[in-house]
Amino acid sequence: MELKRFVGQVAVITGAGSGIGKACALRFAQEGANVACLDVGDAANEITAAECRDLGVETLALYCNVADADSVKAAVAAAMAKWGRVDVLVAAAGIYSGSPLVEVPLKQWQRLIDINLTGVFLCNQVVAPIMMAQKSGSIINISSMAGKTSWPASAEYSASKSGVIGLTRSVAMELAPYGATANAICPGNTRTEMVKNVASQVAPRDGLTTEEWLQLRANDCPMKRMAEPWEIAGVAAFLASPDSRYLTGQALEVDGGMVMS
Ligand SMILES: NC(=O)c1ccc[n+]([C@@H]2O[C@H](COP(=O)([O-])OP(=O)(O)OC[C@H]3O[C@@H](n4cnc5c(N)ncnc54)[C@H](O)[C@@H]3O)[C@@H](O)[C@H]2O)c1
Repeated sequence: MELKRFVGQVAVITGAGSGIGKACALRFAQEGANVACLDVGDAANEITAAECRDLGVETLALYCNVADADSVKAAVAAAMAKWGRVDVLVAAAGIYSGSPLVEVPLKQWQRLIDINLTGVFLCNQVVAPIMMAQKSGSIINISSMAGKTSWPASAEYSASKSGVIGLTRSVAMELAPYGATANAICPGNTRTEMVKNVASQVAPRDGLTTEEWLQLRANDCPMKRMAEPWEIAGVAAFLASPDSRYLTGQALEVDGGMVMS
């Protein structure tokens, strides 16, 4: 049975040009939501928006740098001008960088925190008042299993993703009186451009081919495979659906059982 839980609703998705954000945009469109696709990569974002349109909904493809407050405000204002509401925010835009602690340049730390943590904060800050006024809505912030556990040479990434979990809890408390929810998803290794890029950088350092490195990462979890982006999008759709109205402030591991808490 095809689900159509979001007909007439509006979903704002950051990082919609690729990977998890793209899968979320397509999932919400498939279930009937009008979708605002936000990304710094215009060409890929246009393609996602066109694919969503082909599913029979209205879309906007909007340039947005989530690390820039004015850019976030302008993108959300464009969605409000077109549809007058925001029912769902999926804050998926993010980058990965990692070096051994003593080698992390301050610029690298700051850039990643600006995008992965401040970017999520800015999107939540702009969308929350809209949801409060509507007395409904779902914020879904994409954290990572790296926000719950960690590994070497990942200081800024792990810190940003733990930060997203703390941010989400506080936002959830502020939204709760208004009937809106905020949750984080902590994906495990998911087959996207991000993971492929990390593999191509790190594998040679470890004396492995890219495919060997990807297989090692897949073996990190009991399911012995990576997630596909649509498997993360399915959980995002659940978190925006009526079935999860009493679920807020949580950080759900969607990682094939890698981190069990
Ligand atoms: N792939 C994984 O294994 C994995 C695991 C855990 C968490 N995550 C998180 O999931 C999210 C999506 O990652 P992905 O794997 O789909 O990566 P991806 O590289 O495939 O997609 C990320 C998207 O974010 C966009 N983006 C980057 N910087 C931006 C900015 N400043 N403003 C707006 N858009 C920007 C990129 O252009 C790209 O389209 C990220 O937050 C990432 O940290 C990914």
